[in-house]
Amino acid sequence: MNEAPDLRPEDERLDEARLKTAFAGRALGRSLRVYETVGSTQNEARSWAVAGAPHGALVMAEEQRSGRGRMGRVWHSPSGKGLWMSLVIRTGLTLEQAPHLTLVTAVAVCRAIRQATGADARLKWPNDILIGGRKIAGILVELQATEARMQSLVVGIGISVNLDQADFPDELQEKATSLRLVTGNKVDRTGLAIHVVHSLEEMTGFYLKEGFPPVGSLWEALSDTLGNQVRVETPLGPVVGKAARLDDNGALVVRLDNGEERKLYSGDLMTNPDGLPGTQTSRA
Ligand code: BTN
Repeated sequence: MNEAPDLRPEDERLDEARLKTAFAGRALGRSLRVYETVGSTQNEARSWAVAGAPHGALVMAEEQRSGRGRMGRVWHSPSGKGLWMSLVIRTGLTLEQAPHLTLVTAVAVCRAIRQATGADARLKWPNDILIGGRKIAGILVELQATEARMQSLVVGIGISVNLDQADFPDELQEKATSLRLVTGNKVDRTGLAIHVVHSLEEMTGFYLKEGFPPVGSLWEALSDTLGNQVRVETPLGPVVGKAARLDDNGALVVRLDNGEERKLYSGDLMTNPDGLPGTQTSRA
């Protein structure tokens, strides 16, 4: 396990020198670009990947003007208040393995947040990290592939670290929170970034060596989703039932009221929605 870096509450801006020292000689973060403001760190990392960025190249920004989330959503990324970062991953993964990286990253980020702050961070399938049922972080994995093979993955991580309640737009007031709000303390973003990148390096290595099932077990142990009645919007329609487990390939297994099981590889999940009929209407 990695030695835990100090967390210094007085941190105001990302400390590039400290990041470089922490990532020197490591697989992830050794090549580092820290920007004051960008459209999206995903775009910066993708351009860098196309131009030949090495495995583990890391882009961070104090602010994103057009941060993006899954399903074309906007990712709110105000200046100096969060961790907005993207990593280039070149591990020779196949296209089929790419979805595992979302879950591998979610476990790594969740463990890093717990370790660094003591907060009870939990996972919501497929890519959210929640504290007390509110979203604190999200993961966005995008890939560059030719027809034949995958060139690289860009793993985007957004963590709402020191946002105040008023920093969130109206539509997120009830749904999102920050580490500062839940812990009552300002959190050192540089220290947390080091925890996150080291944790991702460790978890990616574990996945490449052991395969997905043991990572899936770690995911299940941190899950806020399993055991709940859920409604998942999938490309083939909604699926309603009980979130039972992850299968060995990282699919969410939902048990329908009639006992049938559905394996879901992507979708938008709602937990315990009011007025659920308890039946599934999917054509999947
Ligand atoms: C989600 O929950 O929908 C995923 C959010 C991912 C946000 C991060 S912030 C860094 C990187 N740059 C982006 O534009 N998005 C990701």
